[in-house]
Amino acid sequence: MTATPGLRGVLFDRPEVLPGAETLLSAAGVRDRCELIGDDFFASVPGGDAYVLAYIVHDWPDAQAIGILRACHRAMAPGARLWLVEQVVPPGDAYDRAKLLDMLMLVLFGAQERTEAEYRALLEGAGFEWVSVRPTATPFSVVEAIRP
Ligand SMILES: C[S@@+](CC[C@H](N)C(=O)[O-])C[C@H]1O[C@@H](n2cnc3c(N)ncnc32)[C@H](O)[C@@H]1O
Repeated sequence: MTATPGLRGVLFDRPEVLPGAETLLSAAGVRDRCELIGDDFFASVPGGDAYVLAYIVHDWPDAQAIGILRACHRAMAPGARLWLVEQVVPPGDAYDRAKLLDMLMLVLFGAQERTEAEYRALLEGAGFEWVSVRPTATPFSVVEAIRP
C-alpha cells in the first residue's frame, strides 16, 4: 500500500488477530486506508474488486481450500480478480523448497503445497477462470484467476 498511495483495502482475518494487524498497519503509515474486518472465511468474505490470498490456500486440504475460494467467488462481481501468493511445486524430481514445505504442511496440518495443475483444478472447481502463474524473484508465485 505504501507503493500505491491511492489504494484502499480491507484486511480480513479472524477477529483475534486484528489488534496485531492494526499495530503493523499503523507502524507502516497505512492504517487510514485499510478497513479491518474479523470473521470466518468459510462463511463469507466482504465484497471487493481484487482479492489477495497470501499463504492461505496452502494451509488447507482441497475440500476446505475450495470452500474458501467459493466464499470469495460469491462475494466477487464478474470481472473481479483473485491472486493467490503461494509456493508452487515445480514438475520433476529435483529438490525444491516447495516440495519440502509440502511434506511439512501434510504432517503438521493435513494440508499441502500444490502444482500449477492442482491450483488450476482448485480454482476452476470453485468457478474461476484461470489466467496464469507468475513466478517472482522470491520462492513465491502469484496465481491469478478471474471471477467470470
Ligand atoms: C499463514 S497465515 C497468512 C496471513 C497473511 N495472509 C500473511 O500474508 O501474513 C494464515 C491466516 O489465515 C487466518 N485464518 C485462519 N482461519 C481463518 C478463518 N476461518 N477465517 C479467516 N481467517 C482465517 C489466520 O488467522 C492467519 O492470519
